[in-house]
Amino acid sequence: MPRIKTLRMEGITKSFSTVTANKDVSFHVHAGETLGLLGENGAGKTTLMNILYGLYQPDSGHILINNKPVVIRNSRDSMHLGIGMVHQHFMLVQNHTVGENIALGYSESPFVFPARAVRKKIREFSAQYGLKTDPDKKVWQLSAGEQQRVEIVKTLFHGADVLILDEPTSVLTPRETDELFDILRRMKQEGHAVILISHKLEEILTICNRAVVLRRGEVIGSADIKDVRKKDLARMMVGRDVVFSFSRKPVKKGPVILNVTGITVRGDRNETAVDRVSFDIHGGEIFGIAGVSGNGQKELVEAVTGLRKVESGTIEVEDLDIANTSARFVHDRGVGHVPEERMKFGIIPNLFLFDNAVLKQHHARPFSNLLFLDYRHIRSYSRKLVEDFQVSTPSIDSRIKALSGGNIQKLILGREISRQPKLLVASHPTYGLDVGATEYIRNQLLSLREKGGGVLLISEDLEEIIELCDRTAVMFEGKIMGILDPRKTDIGKIGLMMAGSS
Ligand SMILES: Nc1ncnc2c1ncn2[C@@H]1O[C@H](COP(=O)(O)OP(=O)(O)OP(=O)(O)O)[C@@H](O)[C@H]1O
Ligand SMILES: [Mg+2]
Repeated sequence: MPRIKTLRMEGITKSFSTVTANKDVSFHVHAGETLGLLGENGAGKTTLMNILYGLYQPDSGHILINNKPVVIRNSRDSMHLGIGMVHQHFMLVQNHTVGENIALGYSESPFVFPARAVRKKIREFSAQYGLKTDPDKKVWQLSAGEQQRVEIVKTLFHGADVLILDEPTSVLTPRETDELFDILRRMKQEGHAVILISHKLEEILTICNRAVVLRRGEVIGSADIKDVRKKDLARMMVGRDVVFSFSRKPVKKGPVILNVTGITVRGDRNETAVDRVSFDIHGGEIFGIAGVSGNGQKELVEAVTGLRKVESGTIEVEDLDIANTSARFVHDRGVGHVPEERMKFGIIPNLFLFDNAVLKQHHARPFSNLLFLDYRHIRSYSRKLVEDFQVSTPSIDSRIKALSGGNIQKLILGREISRQPKLLVASHPTYGLDVGATEYIRNQLLSLREKGGGVLLISEDLEEIIELCDRTAVMFEGKIMGILDPRKTDIGKIGLMMAGSS
């Protein structure tokens, strides 16, 4: 039986210098319940959960377990009390194996869980919950989706009564999400409590009993799921009606911008990650790559953006073969890139927002006269980006790492889109964005298309593929299973192709 019957946060306030991330927040969750925690990017969800997990101390307020106040000084305290958390940004140690990562923090003594036993237990968990993980792989070899699965297995392994999941499904496929939800249902029946942060309102409606909505750090309401619909939740979050529809204007196809011919790319373990792949993208076209993460999309994107060598084949950007050049070279040919792992490749966390706003372009006009950086220009440009893309930040002088996940994402997207690239390579561009921001970004991609730009969109979200793409390829085990018009194809068929049937 779980030890935690009710968990309550009462009057929690937390500020970071000028920003009040949480203001007098109270809510509770009890055993056998799934609580949805909702709110726009920057509303304070992650901060609140980090307090519960012991990563931050609140300025005021209490945490009560079974009506008794508890002190949580660090994550070891919280784990000990039975609280587990899967974070929004991966916290795994890149150079360790999956098994080492999962055992980490479990006990300081390696004798309690010798490596063999850990491996065995991980395999059991993986099989039991249908979460595929290989204990012997190094974390840096894993895709985002695979890392997420490891995080979930890790938390289950540590035996949490209350499980906090901060946007766990952003990088999961629909099928993996269903599987995760099966696990959550089972955990619920066993008397666990789950706190789920998600921007995907359908998920909240599917799996949660109740939802609590934050806006600007405060609880602005809560609801029983059986009493609400998607648009009610959206309105509560954003404070206005959100339309989930886009106008795809007919656009005349331009000339070929990207021409990929027969490329083969090796992965980090020297396996063939991309296997003789060919496709082209025209100006005025959004071309999708649908597929379960870990099927070669990451390596394909890295090859196209100059981050990874190809073994054979050519990648032409407007007739110039850019294969095996460099990221800088490809960038300067007019290719923008929104990377999958934004914290690692999209920003320099310790620099200020304004530095990050011109990353990779600071050496060029108008930000530099080739001798000196023009900070006046850089600053006014940054301010405009923040305004246009509604990045919520105290100022452009904040360190980028202090922004919420979604707001970092908005800044990277804004930076890459507003350069008006000939080709934008976008990996999961709306992952982690709230409903309002998702609507905005999807419209931005459409408007780039209307202006004649090409977009290579990597997404596991079939809804996104269908809404945006003119054509989509489906990738499985490094190969393209087919190229099709997603609006003229049965969604079930795309799903099957993603699973390997042609
Ligand atoms: N370490 C920090 N230093 C300074 N400010 C911070 C820090 N952590 C969070 N903040 C600020 O607190 C506010 C809430 O951020 P938080 O990450 O909790 O939002 P969130 O609701 O999780 O958003 P998202 O949906 O984008 O992940 C933001 O304005 C953010 O900039
Ligand atoms: Mg967050």
